[in-house]
Amino acid sequence: MKVGLIGGTCFAGLEGESRPLGDVETPYGSASARVRAFERWPGVLFLNRHGDDGGRRFLPHEVNYRANLWLLRERGAGAVLAVYAVGGIAPELKVGDLVIPDQLIDYTWGRAHTVATGAQPRYVDFRDPFDNRARTAMLCAAADADVTVSAGGVYGCTQGPRLETVAEIDRMERDGCAVVGMTVMPEAALAREFDLPLAGVCLVVNPAAGRGPPGPTVQHVDAVVADAEPRLAALLRASIDILAAPASCPQEGDARAPGHSRG
Ligand code: HPA
Repeated sequence: MKVGLIGGTCFAGLEGESRPLGDVETPYGSASARVRAFERWPGVLFLNRHGDDGGRRFLPHEVNYRANLWLLRERGAGAVLAVYAVGGIAPELKVGDLVIPDQLIDYTWGRAHTVATGAQPRYVDFRDPFDNRARTAMLCAAADADVTVSAGGVYGCTQGPRLETVAEIDRMERDGCAVVGMTVMPEAALAREFDLPLAGVCLVVNPAAGRGPPGPTVQHVDAVVADAEPRLAALLRASIDILAAPASCPQEGDARAPGHSRG
């Protein structure tokens, strides 16, 4: 199975080691970038949601999420793993920590968030917004690759591009959010509409507003990302291997399955 890998602020710089597959046009307009295949990562289809030009061309609210997901499926992805840069809300989270979220709350507005039409009515089940099998693969991969992750947590997705006020983060903490970012939605919902199993990993690049020193600067985020990329690469590579050979990882409901944060 081919695995789509969506990067953004994280993994922005891997384009040079890859070759583009086709162009960016889709029935939903232009995707953020061309899908790329890697010499070193066979079976991986990479797309940078922020664009290829250093990864900052499209701000989170400008990303054409519908086109991106459509293009990955069209190029043959059978599942998607996504990487997100986030602010840490939960007090135990530090800059540089990795979180594999199991839930999300959508605070965005006005984004093109669905491909559903009245002509083809369908209720899309989104109780568990991340695919359990893909999430479990990532948790197994973390153990196999000896990468420390928080197993679960709620990702609160804000509209941006501005950062949040302290009161907004206080509210999000009361809502149960562990991390705050700007890109998981509508990406995750569209993956579900396209029947693409999706799971993701968050890299904490700053304390959320009121949880630490003001910031972050672009330079600071770039430094945190550069430091974390070897860990992220090890985690993703092991996750992709497990998705290709799922028998190597016990699934949810199995007593040996890796931890789930709820219940
Ligand atoms: N808020 C929202 N999105 C983010 C943050 C943040 O603090 N850090 C990285 N992405």
